[in-house]
Amino acid sequence: MHLHKYEKYWLLFGGGSLIVFLLITGIMAFHNGSHPPSAKNTINHEKVDQIAPFNKPGVHKVSGKDWDYEIVVLASAFYYNPPELEVPVGSKVKFIATSKDVVHGFEISGTNVNMMLEPGYVSEYVTTVDKAGEYLIVCNEYCGVGHAQMHSMLKVVD
Ligand code: CUA
Repeated sequence: MHLHKYEKYWLLFGGGSLIVFLLITGIMAFHNGSHPPSAKNTINHEKVDQIAPFNKPGVHKVSGKDWDYEIVVLASAFYYNPPELEVPVGSKVKFIATSKDVVHGFEISGTNVNMMLEPGYVSEYVTTVDKAGEYLIVCNEYCGVGHAQMHSMLKVVD
């Protein structure tokens, strides 16, 4: 096969452009790609249990804020910390959650709370719990062998 000199240049240029294009789209996908919609802040997931508020997972009464309680949840394969949550009915609650390892879900069945928890990102959701009852919290993102057993409980008490 005999290639004209300029055809060689064009082949090189085309191949080079393709690589540059793939690099750029790859970098963009890496930066913007899997950012969960409810996540605003980033966090070092490897040290997350030493960083506030995730150094103290649980239900915290707060004052001077637009909500009454902050519920801090740290997910990891294959459980939630804390394993059970309890708040009085009628409370305005802010959920603050993240993952220590892989992507997990945080769906409170029977409510509109449904967050994606991704390592490195803090997911937040504010809602009012206006019906007493026990609500099962399930992981709705496949996270490994223990995925189906990954759950927790929200108790809304009178
Ligand atoms: Cu955690 Cu599925």
